[in-house]
Amino acid sequence: MKRDFLTLADRTETEYQALFKRTHALKASRKRKEVVTTLAGRHLVLVFEKSSTRTHLSFEAAMYQLGGTVTTITAGSSQIARGETIEDTARVISGYADCIMFRTFGDERLTAFAKASQVPVINGLSEGGHPVQVLADLFTVEERLGSVKGRTIAFVGDCASNMGRSFVEATRFFGFNLRLGCPEGYRPSAELLAQAGARVHVTADATEAVRGADVVVTDVWTSMGQEAESAKRKKELHDYQLNEALLAKANPGAIVLHCLPAHRGEEITDGVIDGTQSAVWDEAENRMHVQKALLEQLILG
Ligand code: CP
Ligand code: NVA
Repeated sequence: MKRDFLTLADRTETEYQALFKRTHALKASRKRKEVVTTLAGRHLVLVFEKSSTRTHLSFEAAMYQLGGTVTTITAGSSQIARGETIEDTARVISGYADCIMFRTFGDERLTAFAKASQVPVINGLSEGGHPVQVLADLFTVEERLGSVKGRTIAFVGDCASNMGRSFVEATRFFGFNLRLGCPEGYRPSAELLAQAGARVHVTADATEAVRGADVVVTDVWTSMGQEAESAKRKKELHDYQLNEALLAKANPGAIVLHCLPAHRGEEITDGVIDGTQSAVWDEAENRMHVQKALLEQLILG
C-alpha cells in the first residue's frame, strides 16, 4: 500500500524522529560533498498549479542529488489548463513516476489527485497546509536550539494560512507549545484547534503571543489566490507585523522563521528578516535536506 504525505497527520512522532535523524545525516553528507545515490533509477514528478521558487528547486535538487531524475510541469504548460481532470492526470503520471509532488488550491483537489495516483503523493502546498515547509521549519529549530520538544513557538499574522494551519497540526507530533497572535477572522478553524488541544493558545494580542517565545514565525498576509483581498488584509493585520519592537518581547536567543517569499515591509520588516536572529536562509536550505529524507521514506519505504 502506498502512503501519501498530504498532512502532518500522515506520519507518527516516531517516524518524524527517524526523518530528522536521517535529515541531519544527509545534510552532513552534502556538506562533506559526499555522493549519496539512494534514489538512483527512481523518478519524481512535480506538478504546480501555483507559482514556486523554493519548492520547485529544492525538490529538484533533492532528487537529483540522491541519484534520481525529475520532471516538472505546471498547469499552464500541461493539459490540466485545457480541462483534463486531475484524476486522469494523476493516473497517467503514476505510470512514469515513483513519487509525485502536487501544489494546488483546495484540499479536495489534492485528495482526489492522491486517490487516483498509484504512487505516493506529497502535498507541496494547498489551502489547508504546507507540511513539507513546516518540517523544514522544525528541523531548523532543532538544529539551532537543540530540540523542538518543550519549546514555545509564536506565530503572528494570518494564522489561518496554510502555514498557520500546519503549525497547529504539528503540535500533536512535535511536542511544542504554540501561541497564535491574530485578529478574529484569521484564526484556524475551531475543529483544528480542538484537535491540537491545550498546546495551542490563541490571542488577539501580538505582544502576548510573542512574550518569552523561543521561535517567532510569520507568513505573508495575502497568500496565493487571495490577491483580491490584499487591501483588506493589510488593514486588518496591520498590528501584527513582525518588527524589531515585537521581536524584542521574545526570548533574547529567539530565532525568526518565515517560509518565504516575504512581503518585506508588510508582515515582516527588513531589520528582522536581515537581522541576527533570522534563520530564514537556513530554513530555505533545509527544505532540500528534509525533503531528501522524506523522498527516501516514501519511495524506499
Ligand atoms: N516556501 C515556499 O514554499 O516557497 P515557494 O512558494 O517559492 O515554493
Ligand atoms: N501562505 C503562503 C505560503 C507561500 C509559500 C501562500 O500560500 O501563498
